[in-house]
Order: sequence, then C-alpha cells, then structure tokens
Amino acid sequence: MCGIIGYIGQKPANEVIFDGLTRLEYRGYDSAGISVVDENKIHVCKDIGKLRNIRGLLLNDFGSKSPIGIGHTRWATHGRPSAFNAHPHSDCDNTLMVAHNGIIENFMSLKKKLRSEGHKFVSETDSEVLAHLIESHYRGDLGNAVINALKEVKGAYAIAVIHREHPDKIICARKESPLIVGIGEGENFVASDVTAILSYTRKVVYLDNLEAAEVTREGIEFFTLEGEAVKKTPTQVDWNPVAAEKGGYSHFMLKEIYEQPQVIRNTIGGRTSEEEGKIYLDELGLTGPEIYKAQRIVVVACGTAYYAGCVGKYLIEKLVKVPVECDLASEFRYREPLVDQNSLVIAISQSGETADTLAAVREAKIRGAKVLGIVNAKESSLTREVDGLVYIHAGPEIGVASTKAYIAMVTALTLLALMLGKIRSVLSPEYVQETIRELKVIPQQIERVLDKHEQIKEFASHFMDSRSFLFLGRGINYPSALEGALKLKEISYIHAEAYAAGEMKHGPIALIDHELPVMALATESNVYDKTISNLKEVQARSGKIIAIATEGDKAIYQLTQDVIEVPKVSEILSPIINVVPLQLFAYYVADLRGLDVDQPRNLAKSVTVE
Ligand code: F6R
Repeated sequence: MCGIIGYIGQKPANEVIFDGLTRLEYRGYDSAGISVVDENKIHVCKDIGKLRNIRGLLLNDFGSKSPIGIGHTRWATHGRPSAFNAHPHSDCDNTLMVAHNGIIENFMSLKKKLRSEGHKFVSETDSEVLAHLIESHYRGDLGNAVINALKEVKGAYAIAVIHREHPDKIICARKESPLIVGIGEGENFVASDVTAILSYTRKVVYLDNLEAAEVTREGIEFFTLEGEAVKKTPTQVDWNPVAAEKGGYSHFMLKEIYEQPQVIRNTIGGRTSEEEGKIYLDELGLTGPEIYKAQRIVVVACGTAYYAGCVGKYLIEKLVKVPVECDLASEFRYREPLVDQNSLVIAISQSGETADTLAAVREAKIRGAKVLGIVNAKESSLTREVDGLVYIHAGPEIGVASTKAYIAMVTALTLLALMLGKIRSVLSPEYVQETIRELKVIPQQIERVLDKHEQIKEFASHFMDSRSFLFLGRGINYPSALEGALKLKEISYIHAEAYAAGEMKHGPIALIDHELPVMALATESNVYDKTISNLKEVQARSGKIIAIATEGDKAIYQLTQDVIEVPKVSEILSPIINVVPLQLFAYYVADLRGLDVDQPRNLAKSVTVE
C-alpha cells in the first residue's frame, strides 16, 4: 500500500525522506519518488523498483539539499508500475507536486474536464488529476487551492503538496486514508504512518477525516476542508519500530482485520460508476466471448481463497445465471477436469505463488480454457500465467491467517458478478446502482462490527477452553462458516468443523451436547427461518449457541444470549460483514490461549510446494 512522507526543517529533505520511505517498505510498493523545492524550482526524482536499487538516484544524484520536500512509495492501482506513474505528480508547468494515497473515484470525469481546459497529463494514474486540479484553483494561496480542488474530488485521499512559490510550507489533507503530522524541534513532518518518522519524533497529531494542515518549519496550523481553523492536541507515541509496523496492534492479524474497511474502499475504488450503474474492471484483459459468453465457470483455489471462491459461486450463479463449480486446486489438477474453450476458469490467490493453484491454471490452459486471476500480490507468478486479471488491492498481508485478502477477494468477486450480470442483461442498471450504493457503505458497517471487539473478546474468553467447535451456515453464508472454522483451527489449534446447517441432521447432530459450542450464522436471508429451525435442534440437545444475527433480531435471543449483532445488509453482501466477527473471535481465542497468532505452527504464508 502506498506511503507518504513530507519534511520541512534544516536537514537535506531527500535524505530524511529516503530514510522515512525505507521504514514504510513493509507496506509493499513497486516504485518511489522524492520531490523538493529549491530556490523556487521543483526538483523531482522517481523510478520503478526497490529503494535499495534506486538509492543512488534518490540520494547521490538528487542534485539538491533543500530542506523541504515530499516523498512517496507507490503500490500500483491505476496504471502499471512505471517512473511516469510514480509519485509525486506535477501540474503542467512543474509549479507544484502532489503525493497521494487512496483512490480518486471521479478521476475520469475530472481528467476529461481538465484536458478540455488545456491540461496535459503524463501518467495513467488517478492521482495526477489532483496536481492539475490544484493548479487550476491556484490564485497565490496554496492552502485555498488545495481546499477548493478537494471540493471537486470524490473518493479517498491522503495528500501532501509543495509549491515552488512556497518553499516554506507543505499543505496536507485527508479523507478516509490516514495521515499524521509529526512535530520536531525546528522541523516538522507529514506521514501516512508513524513508522516513517519515529526516528525523528514521537510527538504526532492524527488528522481526522476531512481535515488539513499547513506545515511550516516553525509550526503547524490545522483546518477543516471547509477552511475553519481547528485546534488539535499532539499525542506522544511510545511504540518501538516493530510495534510501529503493526500500527500499535499486538499482532499483524489484528491490524489486518482492522484494515478491512480501507481494503474494501481500495478494492472497489475507481471501479464503479453509481450514476451509470456500471462496473469497470479495466485490467481484466479478457474481452468478448472468453469472458462474456462462457457457458461454465470453474473456480480453482486453496484454503481461504477457495472459500472466497465458494461465495463467488453463489454470487455468479445468482447475478450472472451461469453455472459455477468450485474446485480445490489440488484436486482439480489431478482429476481430468472437464474444462474446454467454452469454460472460464477463475483462479483466486492472495500470494499468487501457491503451487497447487498455479498447476491448476496450467492444466486448465492445456485444456483450452481461458483463465482469469483474482490476485493480491502484484507481479506474482500467477499474474504472468493468466489471460486476464483482477487485482484485489488488499496490500501486503503478513499474518499467516488470511483475513483482509479474503474480504477483498469476496468484494472483487461481487464486482465481477455485477459486471457480468449487467453485460449479460440479467441485472438492471438500477439493481447495479443500488448494490454499488450499498457496497460503498459496507466499510462503515464493518467499522461498527469492529467496535464490538470487547463483546467478542468476552465470548472468546468463555469458549477458549473448548475442545471442538461446530460452525453452521446456509446459502451464501455456508462458505462463511467454512472460513470461520478454518480461522479458528489454524490459529487456536482447536478442532473446528463447518457444516451447511441443513446437513446437520444427516450426521454431525450426533456430536451435539452441552459441551459443544456451535457458532451459527443466522443473519437475515431467504433461509433465515430454516436456519432457526436447525438451531432449535441444537438447543433441544443442550448445545451452546453463539449466533451472528442481524441488528434488531429479537427472536434469536430465545435460542441464545450469546449474540453478536451485525448491521443489516443485502443477503449477497452479507458474507463480507459476517466473516468479521468470526475473524475476531478466532483471533481472541488464540491470543487468550497465549499462542503465536501471526505465525501458527506448521503453516507458511505462501505454500509454494505441493
Ligand atoms: C488460511 C490461509 C490459507 C491460504 C491458502 C491459499 O488463512 O491463509 O488457507 O488461503 O494457502 O493461499 P493463496 O491465497 O496465497 O493462494
């Protein structure tokens, strides 16, 4: 995920910024750049590659020791990794530079308008529109130009801006993407993440949503994006560098669970048009019959990615009306699968390096099928073997147990299903519009689930010594039950099994007694009543139920008092919300048991062997 750092003080800015960027490396990136203002001129150096490889360019060949500048590490979303697409971005005449994190959703219409006014663009990024937009609003006051430009912008951003006529200030602002200001002695900083500036100062101010700051050597003025001054109180950060990489969370897994609202914004950002009721998956690569006319879709993946694919089956069959089969990649590769040129194979992977998934893709291609990859890791092996791609934009996932990648995969599959359903005229533009609207508020709804962490932790403390768990779900939330059980077993080492609730009476009901906790996905859906009947069977046998239910569901309390309420959403979006309490539950059980949450025994993050 992209990183920003800005510096104004006494030291050479490129050196401080380079140092800060290296501390943001753990976030993942494919290119980097630094820009400074020196004697009313802008200097900029940027390139593709790792910092160690472009060190010479950014440090030795930089050509300026100016003490004011901004820098950026870029994780490509709009536009491939390249020097042109790297940040900072400039306006037409190199009068100002902008570093941006986030996604400008209306960049296409803004670019069109700016082009018609004569602005010249050199990159494929959404971010470059910000530089031109600020240029078009500039009348001598940089702060005002930034505020007025941002009024036209839809989407998420954290930005830092410098201008050649203002070698004494950095303007920064944020909406949804995080941004902080660091306070030093005779020097101040702007950063997307405290990690970048910890070696210089521990005194920071966290900008709130829709806030901005004018940062000078001597001081900082904060204001809202309406231009109203605001008073902010600095916080003293006492993290060590490792804790800082974890953003203050005790584990990467917990950090990644909390990143999920932002991840969803990244996955959908810039890919939807609410007005037109359309989805744009620009990098898809596949066009025409291969994707739009496929008579059959086969999903291949492993583990958590496979469960995301199982949600995808429900979504695609419902929204596109094409039969979908889900296959474990390790099974697919050896069972003479019936795929041919009329099939579309969707391979899903966080790492893009899973040996079984890669082998399944090769098998599918030998049989004539086109393959679409749904992948997180940029430039991974899978991305080079598929015919088309949808990146999920989850950012680097470090905890071995996958969380944010799962949510991003399900979100990407939702976008794909909406796009195909619309193209095949199964869905009306109104339906797509309404679903886009709903998708956009899912991040806030996840935040509300995250706010229930104390309650979930308490449930975890009641059940942490259980020997076994049964997870039940139906319909589109049967895969949620499978994923919840996988999360629990892999990090807590407690046996957990998931069943489609209606299947319970065909066997697992024999396990139920007063000792067996049953985690039930019972949110509103077309199978809600059926699920409740299944849970009554559990209750009748003294099973202990923990239920994930829709806010306001009173009836569920007749079955159990252990209820985690989640916001009401459409059934097709419910897997995105429902998995969050299951992830937190697994996390707290494992943590309370004193286990190594981020690196569970016997597991590797990327399974590159068979
Ligand atoms: C579970 C988990 C694994 C992976 C699986 C596939 O938390 O992380 O089950 O989902 O090994 O990995 P990718 O998605 O990298 O192909």
